[in-house]
Amino acid sequence: MTEILDGKLISQQIQEELFLEIDRIKEQGGKIPHLAAILVGNDGASETYVAAKVKACEKVGFKSTLLRLPETTTEQELLAKVNKLNTNPEIDGYIVQLPLPKHINENKIIEAIAPQKDVDGFHPQNVGRMALNLPTYLPATPYGIIQLLERYAIDTTGKHCVVIGRSHIVGSPMSILMARNAFPGNCTVTLCHSRTANLKEFTQKADILIVALGKPEFITADMVKEGVVIIDVGITRIPSATTKSGFKLAGDVHYDSVAPKASFITPVPGGVGPMTIASLLVNTLKASRKEIYK
Ligand code: GUN
Repeated sequence: MTEILDGKLISQQIQEELFLEIDRIKEQGGKIPHLAAILVGNDGASETYVAAKVKACEKVGFKSTLLRLPETTTEQELLAKVNKLNTNPEIDGYIVQLPLPKHINENKIIEAIAPQKDVDGFHPQNVGRMALNLPTYLPATPYGIIQLLERYAIDTTGKHCVVIGRSHIVGSPMSILMARNAFPGNCTVTLCHSRTANLKEFTQKADILIVALGKPEFITADMVKEGVVIIDVGITRIPSATTKSGFKLAGDVHYDSVAPKASFITPVPGGVGPMTIASLLVNTLKASRKEIYK
């Protein structure tokens, strides 16, 4: 029997919990969490993601501020905005949506974000704290996956977890979190990437397979074993003759053939995506409460 890991449902549950918490904060006259997002340029996917983040803030009663900057923004101008947010006491946490235009050095911007306000968990200090299992902001997508595994009480201890993709946003932090001495965690982790030879040999040995590759329907039934737990991070628009819009969203996993072999699987859409948003909100509440940095 295959069980769906319903990220949409769990995300809604987390957002309801946050909504109730905001009610309590309001009653007690406390500070309402305030998230800011910087969006540079007009990348279509980034626009969609940032709009979803702002909308989620409204839904749970957080304040949000969207700073839209033109594609032509210079690195100096963006650094000035970052410094302004760092010192603005009204803003509890903020994100700089990636990717940035090519003429801006992403690492330089990330390093300029005050670690206390880095609710994406991308600053080197927060990445280091994560690796050392110290309190920190966990990056939203990996944190969302951890919360999904936790709420479905999936047994991870001693399991072989194969992560595909080594990005700083998903694959790399995911591999660290699954290997930690924590629950969920305590896995034996293999991190595969675009240069991995004989990928199928690894995927076939996975008890838990986390795919963050960006290649639609890449993982097929012959690549996984019976009973595998599948976490599909991919989300790509592909042409479809059966939808009105002419496209559909596809994950990195060929769902129809892989799902029957899996014990648990995340759908696309409605799996990992909504969990990313919920996690960002949780991090913002932690920032406003100064839970990580007192
Ligand atoms: N681009 C893709 N995912 C993310 C994310 O989680 N945070 C930011 N800032 N940019 C992204």
